Amino acid sequence: MRNNLVAWAVSEDHFPSFGSIKEKFKFFVRYAILAPSGHNTQPWMFEVHDESLNLLADRTRALPVIDPDDRELIISCGAALTNLVVAMKYFGFEPDITYFPVEHDNDLLASVKIKARDYEPNDEDKMFFKSILKRRTNRLPFADDVVDGITKQKLISITTQDKDVRFAIVEDTDKKEEITKLIEIADRAQSQNKSFCRELAQWVHPNRSNSKDGIPGYAFGMGDLISYGSPFFIGNLNWGDIQAGRDRNLVKGSPLLAYMETKKDKPFEWLRTGMALERILLKAAYEGIAASYLNQPLEVPELFEKFKVLVDTPNYPQMILRMGYGKEVKSTPRRDVEDVIKLN
Ligand SMILES: Cc1cc2nc3c(=O)[nH]c(=O)nc-3n(C[C@H](O)[C@H](O)[C@H](O)COP(=O)(O)O)c2cc1C
Repeated sequence: MRNNLVAWAVSEDHFPSFGSIKEKFKFFVRYAILAPSGHNTQPWMFEVHDESLNLLADRTRALPVIDPDDRELIISCGAALTNLVVAMKYFGFEPDITYFPVEHDNDLLASVKIKARDYEPNDEDKMFFKSILKRRTNRLPFADDVVDGITKQKLISITTQDKDVRFAIVEDTDKKEEITKLIEIADRAQSQNKSFCRELAQWVHPNRSNSKDGIPGYAFGMGDLISYGSPFFIGNLNWGDIQAGRDRNLVKGSPLLAYMETKKDKPFEWLRTGMALERILLKAAYEGIAASYLNQPLEVPELFEKFKVLVDTPNYPQMILRMGYGKEVKSTPRRDVEDVIKLN
């Protein structure tokens, strides 16, 4: 296993049963860091205290061009928070989460204390935990197989109790076509934005790179040789038409096109979106369903408004996903747990 993939070798057998709470929290963080994040920036930091843990946004890892408000950055942290609480519950620790515990400190996203140490994980808790190691972003074409109604309902049910976030599947064929067109327009707009291309190029790496963050070419389906040229290609050539064509085919071949939305559009809702996103992705992984992102229309302000009109919502769309049955794909790098933990 490559050195930058060792984070995925974490196993429940390594749980420090006789260790201190700090050591246990550190172990839970090993699962938190397997969460997805925009461009695999892993923009999180965990401050471990004797009896609690703080989740902080690491804004040094921001993507100012694609994500000027750090919205996706905080969504990414929310996904990591879900993994953390899933791991805690699996090992019998009931979490007590306070969101944004310090007024005006928008970097301190959540404080996690332990409510009980004799929590009995239910089947859903166990399912979520087992799926953390299975989940991947899968950008390759999916099989034609449809996702049946029961499975769709299982995915939708993940957010039915959630007061802050809604997950919706786009069923209408005409709407799907209109959304596909928006994705194509967004691809072309982003590829013509030099700053966007430079930013992306900094985070896409050759397959054999030892980098512990960013996206290796293989995650886009590139072979080793082509992956060497990918940062140059992204940063210097006009790839909008290629990407637009590719995304059109991906949407056409995806049994599910879905989006997530919130009633407000503030850091709290972004964090909750990330938490719900990861629960949906874990449930999907458990059901054998792969997912990847088509957020482009939400990243271009004029297209964001058009997307809202298309799906006819007064709310704030946060994420666009395609889902379906795909071949297995490789995991992507992660930083070492020591790099994202501050022990106090
Ligand atoms: C908030 C957020 C936004 C993302 N946006 C995109 C995107 O627009 N396009 C894409 O291909 N992947 C996107 N991703 C997926 C990340 O690139 C992926 O999670 C990361 O590279 C790590 O890979 P993994 O998910 O396979 O572990 C996004 C992930 C998150 C959490």
